[in-house]
Parts: sequence; C-alpha cells; structure tokens
Amino acid sequence: MAERGAAEAAEPTPSRWWLGAVGYEVYLRSFADSNGDGNGDLDGLAARLDHLAWLGVDVAWITPFYPSPLADMGYDVADYLDVHPLYGDLAAFDRVIARARALGLRVMVDLVPNHTSSAHPWFQAARSSREDPHRSWYHWRDRPNNWPAVFGGSAWSFDPATAQHWLHLFLPEQPDLNWAEPAVADEFDRILRFWLERGVDGFRIDVAHGLIKHPDLPDLPQLRPVTEAMSPREAFDCFEHVYDLDQPGVLDIYRRWNSVARPYGALLLGEVYLRDPARVHRYVEGGDALHTGFNFDLMHIPWSPGELRATLQRLADHAGPGSAVALSSHDRVRAATRFGGGELGRRRALGALALMLALPTMPFLYQGDELGLEDVAVPPEEGDDPVGVRNAVKTDSRDGCRTPMPWSPGPGCGFTAPSVRPWLPIGPRRPEDTVERQRADAGSHLHRVRALLALRKRRPELHQNGAATSWPASPPAVVALRRGPVLTLANAGDEAADTPLPPGRWRIAWASFDRTREAAAAERAVGLAPAEALVLELEPPR
Ligand code: NOJ
Repeated sequence: MAERGAAEAAEPTPSRWWLGAVGYEVYLRSFADSNGDGNGDLDGLAARLDHLAWLGVDVAWITPFYPSPLADMGYDVADYLDVHPLYGDLAAFDRVIARARALGLRVMVDLVPNHTSSAHPWFQAARSSREDPHRSWYHWRDRPNNWPAVFGGSAWSFDPATAQHWLHLFLPEQPDLNWAEPAVADEFDRILRFWLERGVDGFRIDVAHGLIKHPDLPDLPQLRPVTEAMSPREAFDCFEHVYDLDQPGVLDIYRRWNSVARPYGALLLGEVYLRDPARVHRYVEGGDALHTGFNFDLMHIPWSPGELRATLQRLADHAGPGSAVALSSHDRVRAATRFGGGELGRRRALGALALMLALPTMPFLYQGDELGLEDVAVPPEEGDDPVGVRNAVKTDSRDGCRTPMPWSPGPGCGFTAPSVRPWLPIGPRRPEDTVERQRADAGSHLHRVRALLALRKRRPELHQNGAATSWPASPPAVVALRRGPVLTLANAGDEAADTPLPPGRWRIAWASFDRTREAAAAERAVGLAPAEALVLELEPPR
C-alpha cells in the first residue's frame, strides 16, 4: 500500500487544459475541400485552422475521418488506425496536428467504441462462422429481443449464413461491440495510444453511455405502442432503456482509459446522451473515469424564458469541470433555425450563446454557429443521412445542419472550387452569411461571437471552475445569470424589458446587437429589446 501511495504521489498532476477552454466541432466533410472533389478534407482543415485561432476557440473536435463505407457518415468505422482516402491520409492528419500546434490550438478526435462498421475485418471474421474467435466480439442471439434501433426498426438483423441475429443499436451496418470480451478492451487501449502518440489532446467518445449491455439482453419495458406514423426517435422513446443504455460497468471502461490518457494529459469527453444532468454527472464525478460529459438539453429547448432558465439552472446545478454543452451539432437542427429562423432566430441564437458561455461548463460551438447560420433545406433526393433516406415516414434527416461552410461569396462559397458539386448542397447562403463578409464587418455575428469568447477568456470567473452561479431577480422574460462580477442577461420575451441590476456599478461589456444608446455604465436598471442579450461587468468600487 505504502509503495502504491508513493508511486501515485510521484505521478505528475495532469494540467487539465480543458478547464476554461472553448471547443469547436469541425464537421470535416463540410468544412473545407482542398482538392476540389466536393468533400471537406484534412488538408482543407489545416488550411482553415487559422479561422479557429482568430475566433478564439481552444480546441477543435474533428468528426470521424477513418476508413468507412460511410453508411452513417463515418460513425461506422472499418479501421480505427487510418484515414479514409476521401479525407487524406495519416500524413495529412499529422499536418493538421502540426498546424494546430503552430497556432496554439488543441485537437480532439472522435472515437466510436460502441459499434464498428459491418465492413470492419473484426465483424467480417465474426460473421464468417459461429466458431470464429471474433464471434464473441459482437452480440449474437438465436432470437431477437424487443430492442429498437435508434435509427428505426429492430436493433437486430439476421445473418443467414450463421443463422443468428446480431445487435445494432443504430444501423444494421453498425454492429455493437461486446465489451464483455476482454480482447475488445485491449484493442481499444491500443487505438487510444495510437492517436495519443500522434499528438491528439483528447477524445470525443461516441455513444459513451451505450458500451455495456445487460448480460442477459432482456426485453425492455415498453411504455406505449409504436405506431407507423412515429419517427425513429419517437419509436425509440416508447421503451424504457433500462438494459441497453447506462449499464453498471460502463465506468470501468473509462477508468481504464483514464489511466491510458493520463500520461498524455488528454481529455475524455463522452457523448452521454441521457438528457439528465444528474446521470451524466455520474460519469465524471469520481474524477477517475470521463473528465467531461456532453449534456444536450440546450439543443432541445424552444426559445422561451421559462425553459431557458430552468435548463440553465439544471445544468449549473450539475456543472463544473465535468460538463460540456453546445447549442448545435451535426445531429441537431441549428440553433438559429430552431429559435425561429431569419434575423430574429440569429439574434436569439446569439443571446443563447451568451448565456451558454456564462455557464460553468465546457462550451462547444458547432461550425457555422459563429456566423449565425441556419439549416439548409436539403431535398431528399440530394440528401445523404440514412436517418432521412431510409425512413419514409416522418424523417429526422440531419442533412440540413451538415451542409458546407460558406467561407466567401460566389459559387462554391470558398468551400470547394466554383465548378464542383459539393457532397451536400451549399444551399441559398447569402454573401453576408460568409466568413469573408462577416470578418470585414465589425458589427457582424462573427465579430460578436469572437468578442464573447475574448471576454470569457479574460474573465476566469466564467470558466468551469470559476465563480459560483447565481440567478438575480429579473422580469419574467429576462434570463439573468451571474458569475461573480459578470452578469449575463437575455430577453427571451417579445417586448422590451427593464431589468434591475444587483447593487454596484455595472459596465456593459458586450451587446448582442447595436444599442441605440450604447450605455457605458448602468447603476440600477438596464433596458433590453426583445432577443437582446448583454454581458455586464461590475466596476471596482470608486
Ligand atoms: C452520435 C453521432 O453524433 C451521430 O452522428 C451518430 O449517428 C451516432 N452517434 C451513432 O454513431
């Protein structure tokens, strides 16, 4: 025991670089195309990383770039240790890391441990015969249970050659790995080390709450019948997910990974899609498993003061170092669209961003959030998302939030060559939606987001482990969130609202749009137009 204590004491304290950091999700295929094939790629990313540095984010999370049949846009991995030719090769990945280092940025990669692609050699071997040593790396049953797949239909598919069903919580092309098989865990240690040695600063872990299943794979309790008219998600929600998700033992995997990542000071950020901050918190509270877990509540709420306040409060109660948040992602309708679209939707999204950046969590922007981008209406025949394409009834297609980044006005939008047809349509982007135009306009959405990030960097009170969160009294329409000497206000109502200020002299440090009376300081109250947000700083006593 004494010896172990000494060894532990000798271990360097990890820097926990993510405390105070802001992340940026790069949806690689839609970020920047370097070779004119209509697909974003790693060299395109390397060439555009200066945008992230200029914006003031600290870490880029790159969505999967591994060899894959792309049945689920790369979340179906056929080789965890290589790069899909569409995106480049390992040397191109190294160039991303080198460029990031030169710009002072960190890089996280997406790890997909819940399932492989059905094209992965492990699964190919597993389905070759019941006796194959890889058979036990996946879940096989003679008869399926009642589990639904997230993307529609049953979570089981039949393999005629070996006369058994395999389990897939997502597409049939995404067979779930059996984490009770020790060889699977050994392989993933190797995969983690491979990318850590290449210089990554952390992992975003896909479906982090799903790896362990109840060993008996019992039927799930069903809450209500599934009907034809339901979307895949609605059908999935007809069941109580008590045996397929969030099972005992899943933290042991992350404890093991924690010790793999520790010598590298790397971040383990789980996609713990449980929609319950208290349950997500269990993955991080011990400090020896995940470092941070994504919470998705802010992606699901409408623009309403009551829902905003309640969600922010719930998040703050379970926040701290172990919590990450975002308003948009490659899986959800963009915030500006969700909040009503057009100028109003963009303003509301900016207000929500100001509030989110004031939470004691690790915030993430999704590419295009900084421009106030809205979703693009992608016609089904031009779509790619299997969720949209395969389910005729009430599609939940995610194509609309995955369209290419508009870098500059004109055909191709600076994403790809003007004559090239991108993998998803760019859509009707306006010149003023582009990075180029917004950079040239000091009052643009982009400059306001950049100013917010600069403010957050300057005020450690706003970081995850900064000042305590409090909720000063405000009119019902105004959400007011205070972290020590920084007060963030957003008017989520339809009328102007005068908001009383806590005692002291407050200076307006940031506004979500130009204020006619750009008040330098306010003593007792401040007026907010509908959808307006402000960040105020307490001036030191005179
Ligand atoms: C979550 C990813 O964000 C999503 O895009 C993917 O389809 C599922 N996990 C399955 O891997």
